[in-house]
Amino acid sequence: ALLDTRPKLLAGCRIIVTSGPTHEPIDPVRYIANRSSGKQGHAIAAALARLGADVRLVSGPVNIADPAGVATVHVETAAEMKDAVEQLLPADAAVFVAAVADWRTAGTAGEKIKKVAGEGPPALRMIENPDILAGVGHHRQRPGLVVGFAAETQDLIRNAEAKLKKKGADFIVANDVSHESGVGPTGVMGGDRNKVRIVSKSGVEEWPEMTKDEVAARLAALIAERLKTIVV
Ligand code: CTP
Ligand code: CA
Repeated sequence: ALLDTRPKLLAGCRIIVTSGPTHEPIDPVRYIANRSSGKQGHAIAAALARLGADVRLVSGPVNIADPAGVATVHVETAAEMKDAVEQLLPADAAVFVAAVADWRTAGTAGEKIKKVAGEGPPALRMIENPDILAGVGHHRQRPGLVVGFAAETQDLIRNAEAKLKKKGADFIVANDVSHESGVGPTGVMGGDRNKVRIVSKSGVEEWPEMTKDEVAARLAALIAERLKTIVV
């Protein structure tokens, strides 16, 4: 194998990454999900590991392999993802890439829900899931660097800035998921390319469209740069 001769800028740094969707059960055979592929989150975990970080990936259900050199914990629901993340604290940095389901059903039926003649479809009562990023952003063991993502179909920057503040993040990686840039094999959710803006207190940096692997490498470099200034 070829030797990776790049400097291990993140050696000794412990970094938590979340990736993929979450699945919220309705009954033993049904669940609510979203179209996140996990590609961007897994690529970020891999890129951080290539820089020598001790990466702990918490992944929802995805159809891609665990990244090389990354300790991966597999979860299904938002509640499980939150528990897994909090178990992994303290950390030097945390990157929240997962498309966490915003709501779960108020209760999971113990048996498969049956059609009942004349009754019509069941009403699903939904309750809000905990915000994992906000929990860590305001945690007493808050990592020195907290990075979130924002998937928006409108008012990208304004919404990303609001999330930055509310969730206690240092950076929000803002993603336009509207229309053709949105969902499907060529879109942000499911595809291999991404176009992001990095929103922080110091302003907005627009990155050109590139592959998710390139976004990951560039974000890993930015994280390494930032952690260096925090440590010394
Ligand atoms: N996030 C999280 N836990 C949640 C919801 C979101 O950790 N329950 C994280 C995501 O991983 C992402 C960021 O928060 O890093 C923003 O997610 P997003 O869905 O864009 O924001 P929400 O706060 O859920 O707002 P909305 O979906 O209404 O835009
Ligand atoms: Ca959401």
